Amino acid sequence: MAEPILEVSGLVKHYPLTRGVLFKKQIGAVKAVDGVDFTLAQGETLGIVGESGCGKSTVARLLCGLERPTAGTITFKGEDITRLSGKALKAVRRNIQMVFQDPYTSLNPRMTVGDIIGEPYDIHPEAAPKGDRRRRVQELLDVVGLDPEYINRYPHQFSGGQRQRIGIARGLALRPEIIVADEPVSALDVSIQAQVVNLLARLQTEFDLSYLFIAHDLSIVRHISDRVAVMYLGRIVETGRDSEIYDHPTHPYTQALLSAVPVPDPDAREHRERIILTGDVPSPADIPSGCRFRTRCWKAQERCVVEVPALAVPAAFRDAAGPAAHPSACHFAEEKQVVPPEESRLNGNGPG
Ligand SMILES: Nc1ncnc2c1ncn2[C@@H]1O[C@H](COP(=O)(O)OP(=O)(O)OP(=O)(O)O)[C@@H](O)[C@H]1O
Ligand SMILES: [Mg+2]
Repeated sequence: MAEPILEVSGLVKHYPLTRGVLFKKQIGAVKAVDGVDFTLAQGETLGIVGESGCGKSTVARLLCGLERPTAGTITFKGEDITRLSGKALKAVRRNIQMVFQDPYTSLNPRMTVGDIIGEPYDIHPEAAPKGDRRRRVQELLDVVGLDPEYINRYPHQFSGGQRQRIGIARGLALRPEIIVADEPVSALDVSIQAQVVNLLARLQTEFDLSYLFIAHDLSIVRHISDRVAVMYLGRIVETGRDSEIYDHPTHPYTQALLSAVPVPDPDAREHRERIILTGDVPSPADIPSGCRFRTRCWKAQERCVVEVPALAVPAAFRDAAGPAAHPSACHFAEEKQVVPPEESRLNGNGPG
């Protein structure tokens, strides 16, 4: 594989937990991101999946330079951007842009579409000469499949899917190399989701973009991701190429997430194993010792209480080099078929 465009190493974001107003006393920390490593290759899409509160948006904000990490490095094209400030940081930020989850709240209702999409040029005036902006915004509208004539309209005049296209156009305004899409379709109707995912896929090829695509649901990222990382309580617990994760998951958490993905085929539905996780996700301010998933895991043993499992290819699969040989942070990783094969999932009609 070519040199990664982005390399994240030991990324940590802890928010101090304080008591008192006048004499703020730190009583702990919310460990939103607690040691995350991954790479992103040029032109690749990495899907990041996990339940609410596992730290996905925090990772996104750190990558886009909207927040500073507590520890760790974010290397963009060979340069650690967490050490940059001022002009140098601003210049790098241009290259990593975010598309937000909710197109209803992320677009200012009092601004025209033209002003919204052109807003990045206010922050980076060097990116577009003033006289050129309108033309650029119209071109961006066209690129995301909206009529350039809409430039003077307001967000409320658009549907959810169209609004997300506006958000995507804004993300593209500075011609970034990386797009961090934080649940870009979660707020949209299911019927619209595929259209927006397809648009993102087309733009990726057209502009040679690298994507970090964040989602709750493993079924959404499958269509767009080359690789997937599954997060739990601030850490990646399993990562691999999408066929490895979907068809040969070895971490119990991934297996449970996959078993919750709806299967249209009634026959396949009947034959698969369904794993229901018990209990709630622990608070990121009070992370369990050892394996952080152990409090909800049906396989947990004494070892899991005391020993943190490393994110590495499990010994059992190391020599086989098969699809199960991908990093998984479980002491008792094993392959488990929890979803029916691809064919039965895609043609939703079932047998006969
Ligand atoms: N500024 C902050 N101060 C304190 N805690 C925070 C802050 N931002 C996030 N958190 C906490 O960090 C944890 C991770 O939050 P984050 O928004 O990254 O999760 P997420 O995976 O994006 O969740 P969701 O799927 O709901 O969007 C949560 O427990 C959240 O409450
Ligand atoms: Mg989020």
